[in-house]
Amino acid sequence: MDSSESRRLSVSLVDVAEGREKDFLAFSTHFQAVLIRKEYGRAEMIRDEALPLRYYAVRYWIDVASAERCHRDPEVQALTLQLYQMARVTHVVNGVRRHDAMRLMLDDRRSRMEADRRTGFDRRVTDKGRSSGNRRAERDRRLGPRRVRDRAGEVDLIDAARRAREQADAAFSHFKVGAALETADGSVVTGCNIENATYGLTICAERVAMFKAVSEGHRAFTRIAIVADTELPTPPCGACRQILWEFGGNLEIILGNLKEPKGTHHLRDLLPLPFDARLL
Ligand code: THU
Repeated sequence: MDSSESRRLSVSLVDVAEGREKDFLAFSTHFQAVLIRKEYGRAEMIRDEALPLRYYAVRYWIDVASAERCHRDPEVQALTLQLYQMARVTHVVNGVRRHDAMRLMLDDRRSRMEADRRTGFDRRVTDKGRSSGNRRAERDRRLGPRRVRDRAGEVDLIDAARRAREQADAAFSHFKVGAALETADGSVVTGCNIENATYGLTICAERVAMFKAVSEGHRAFTRIAIVADTELPTPPCGACRQILWEFGGNLEIILGNLKEPKGTHHLRDLLPLPFDARLL
């Protein structure tokens, strides 16, 4: 696969509900045919050898515009709804990136960033998250179109956070939180809160996501979604704001609950006058 094709790749984890595998395979054949018939691209379902009900849905888009058309297509949306009834879907790579949007984002970021001596800032614009292939051959790919509206896959991050929340280990507070962090290359790294008997060593969902991402080599981030099962949104705690700021900069922060999104903020507004390496 050449690099231009890999840039338009979207990948989702699909965990099929028990007893629905036959329906899912029929759905999958139909879905693949629609993508080809409408000239959006092609899809492939790859079965996980180790987990019988897990598949990886890979979509290779013809180009960014066809991916966006596909996301807006009512037929595809109806099919996607069907899929959600027979499987749990987590979007892990949103390969839809627009070059002009990236340029906008880059200029926007430059114009808003004051002179920044933080080593963290340098790290954030050099994402070495994946070493395979030449996906990073072009510098601008590392800066995702964070502020561009109507981006394909805009709501997926909250879904991923909801799903991550299910893994929360909150035996003491019973307050489960999920987070999904989007890296500049469109990958999604999730986290949940993990508590233990000391209470004080609890780690929040946001920091789990960020530390996982950093440990996997990611250094540039665009957005994070945070989900709890509450009517009022759950914003990141002070400790998490600090870590998110130092490793992720002025991230877009999307809050939500199990039903709906609950608002979007920017980290700079949640953490005015931050402490960071510029001050050392
Ligand atoms: N918690 C998070 O994971 N993220 C937040 O944004 C707020 C709080 C966790 C920590 C603890 O396990 C539980 O929620 C109650 O504070």
